[in-house]
Amino acid sequence: MKQQLEAIEKKALDAFAAASDPTELESLRVKFLGKKGELTAVLKMMGSLTPEERPVMGQMANQVRAAIEKDLEEKKQKLAAKALDLKLRSEALDVTMPGTEVPLGHKHPMSIVLDEMKEIFIGMGFDVVDGPEVELESYNFTKLNTPAGHPARDRQDTFYTTEDDTVLLRTQTSPMQIRVMETRKPPIRIISPGRVYRKDEVDATHSPMFHQMEGLVIDKGITMADLKGSLTQMVKLLYGEDSVVRFRPHHFPFTEPSCEVDVRCFKCRGEGQIDGHTCSTCHGEGWIEILGAGMVHPAVLEGCGIDPKEYSGFAFGCGVERMTMNRFAINDLRLIFENDVRFLNQF
Ligand code: PHE
Repeated sequence: MKQQLEAIEKKALDAFAAASDPTELESLRVKFLGKKGELTAVLKMMGSLTPEERPVMGQMANQVRAAIEKDLEEKKQKLAAKALDLKLRSEALDVTMPGTEVPLGHKHPMSIVLDEMKEIFIGMGFDVVDGPEVELESYNFTKLNTPAGHPARDRQDTFYTTEDDTVLLRTQTSPMQIRVMETRKPPIRIISPGRVYRKDEVDATHSPMFHQMEGLVIDKGITMADLKGSLTQMVKLLYGEDSVVRFRPHHFPFTEPSCEVDVRCFKCRGEGQIDGHTCSTCHGEGWIEILGAGMVHPAVLEGCGIDPKEYSGFAFGCGVERMTMNRFAINDLRLIFENDVRFLNQF
């Protein structure tokens, strides 16, 4: 019986040593220590021993059981530690690994130029004001000295949103002149950028929706010299000291006198030709038109309750897409609206 007990102990310890996972270990525990296990089977034979042998064998059996249990417990813990180690290793997070780079966006070229223009005028003491794109016909035309039937209305045909033609998509930012003069007292110095709408087909230089930036100055003693000085300053700050501007007589119903302002073509430098070919940027003109301007018409001032004998002022409206195209030498307006990243990435 002594040999049997020793054999069981040795067999158990060997088996534990070879076990590689907790389930295997549990079935070994049942095999050796369970009710129907090998040790129990040996103990059942105790009855056949003499009364002298019984306590000696009993003690030995207990020692063997204790030794097996101890070894089993140790092995269990070793396997648990190994499992934990494996789990930790597989779930490890290396915080020093380089991260996934998130591509950063940047401003659209139109926003770059618009922000630059705002910056320039804020520096000259102008306020920036916002206005509605869906506008009253009276603000878009009538109060701007453009009564019903005036030919200027045809050139700026637009989308009317009511049967009686009193509400429309504004064709220019000039209605903001009226809105500001009706609500503010001079001195007034504002710019107002925003979207405008016209019945234009899309091509390299036209779009039914585009952006303008209106400007308005009303004070005592404002003259054409202030208009020329302010706009020349804007062009020089935007396009560089060496840029050249030209003021050309023009007509707008709501300014008198009126003018259009051109900058010398950045491509042909005013020559109109490059290597004997007509410059495609200015179409041989040597100049590129950027804005309309003029001295606010006395009838417009009066309509807004401002005395033209006391006050005078100038206004201008420039195309923001045009300003952007000139600023970055972009030759097709559509590029500005398509938002192709291959184009946008260049700014
Ligand atoms: N609103 C005019 C246009 O759209 C431009 C302009 C603005 C002219 C202000 C004079 C004064 O063409």
